[in-house]
Amino acid sequence: VTDTGASSQALPASAAHGLTVIDARWTDRDAISDVLLTSGIFGQSDAECVDDMFVETWQKPRPDGYRWLRCAGPDDGLLGFVCYGTESLTQDTWDLFWICVRPQARGRGVGRTLIEETVRRAQAENGRFMVIYTSSTDAYAPARALYRAAGFAQNATIPDYYKDGDSLQIFWRRLRV
Ligand SMILES: CC(C)(COP(=O)(O)OP(=O)(O)OC[C@H]1O[C@@H](n2cnc3c(N)ncnc32)[C@H](O)[C@@H]1OP(=O)(O)O)[C@@H](O)C(=O)NCCC(=O)NCCS
Repeated sequence: VTDTGASSQALPASAAHGLTVIDARWTDRDAISDVLLTSGIFGQSDAECVDDMFVETWQKPRPDGYRWLRCAGPDDGLLGFVCYGTESLTQDTWDLFWICVRPQARGRGVGRTLIEETVRRAQAENGRFMVIYTSSTDAYAPARALYRAAGFAQNATIPDYYKDGDSLQIFWRRLRV
């Protein structure tokens, strides 16, 4: 277990001109699947898992259900999304479950804008702590860099968790003192 120390400060969203982050809508369902299937790292089973979560959110609304944010450019087209929510059996710990940005929209602050709004909303609901589970593989290096840039620290590694050579890395950030 390593603790690199989490910063309490997120990067400013100054690079995010022209981006709008709001609650996702039911009509975003297909676009969210498309974002995953064209991501270069997620496949059909991942997209189906996310779709099940998305459908459950609308069909069985619950106060502790999944939350979804969409980030769009000036034409309202979906550039990326995030799914987050509370972590059961914890006191005010939140979990960022999924984040994905269209390949052609990467490097323009979409991911940062989504994560900052996720943190802001969790804080507004008295969130105390946020965790993100991710992979150690090269394909997830941009995600790990994003989490660090957003003030998350890598706290723990479980070797070979996903498969041999693919470890689980847990990032965390305290949302309030
Ligand atoms: C990870 C991902 C969401 C980042 O989205 P993005 O919109 O490209 O990220 P941003 O432009 O907001 O980047 C914000 C910061 O993250 C870091 N970062 C993002 N991509 C990076 C990359 N390829 N290399 C290094 N740092 C990177 C940088 O610190 C960046 O700040 P900077 O632009 O000031 O240098 C995107 O690459 C993606 O969708 N990847 C595939 C899906 C995925 O891995 N999801 C996470 C699964 S756990």
